[in-house]
Amino acid sequence: MESRIDMYDSKARYGAVSRGLHWAMALAFAWIYCSTGAHYLLADSALDEFLWPTHKSVGLLLMSLLVLRVIWSLVNRHRRPPSFNLAARLGHGLLYAGMFAIPFLGLLRQYGSGRAFTAFGLPVMSGFEGPKIQWMTDLGNSFHSLLGWTLAVLIVGHVAAVILHCSKGQWEILRRMAGSGAKA
Ligand code: HEM
Ligand code: HEM
Repeated sequence: MESRIDMYDSKARYGAVSRGLHWAMALAFAWIYCSTGAHYLLADSALDEFLWPTHKSVGLLLMSLLVLRVIWSLVNRHRRPPSFNLAARLGHGLLYAGMFAIPFLGLLRQYGSGRAFTAFGLPVMSGFEGPKIQWMTDLGNSFHSLLGWTLAVLIVGHVAAVILHCSKGQWEILRRMAGSGAKA
């Protein structure tokens, strides 16, 4: 029996690359929200001291994966599974907006602060002498955390919507993102 991995999306299923990006990012989001949760609720605990130093690096990783995901979704734009309904279309749009705006604001504030930034031990920003760039740090201070927690609520809503569909027997929704890897 022939069975091969479909890299590209189809009208029936997300392909291996889209699925890989979706679940890899879901894992990284779980990690980054553990870091923010520990920082917010258990400041200075051992868990906070372990997770918080990874926050910016994982945030940059999420931003990089998002760029790949957007490029890949454009490559596949004519063959992706259609949105289940208008709410799903709007919800996914908001998730993309949050996935972009939050790390972007974090990185903008980081740049504006003038402090050097390394991620996973690699230099990303060299920093600069002199005063910080106020509008950049102000934007980050005003919106990074706020939008970060808003996205957390949207993600809970997204997962709840999937569970709701499955509870009504509409398993196809989960199947098209879980995928069997085999050609349909
Ligand atoms: C998708 C990626 C990201 C998410 C979901 C996220 C989420 C969050 C959240 C929810 C908070 C609030 C924590 C609290 O209330 O204690 C926070 C704080 C913070 N984040 Fe991020 N973040 C991301 C990426 C980044 C990046 C790329 C940077 C910098 C390079 C960054 C730097 C910071 C800093 C310095 C704080 C503490 C200051 C503050 O509360 O605004 N984050 N982040
Ligand atoms: C346990 C966690 C998660 C589950 C069970 C899950 C499940 C799913 C499922 C079943 C779909 C397909 C829906 C459809 O075709 O209409 C989907 C799509 C999607 N999910 Fe998730 N998801 C999870 C986490 C996340 C997270 C953390 C994000 C981002 C913050 C996210 C963003 C998206 C987006 C944007 C789509 C639309 C397809 C795309 O463009 O990749 N999901 N998810």
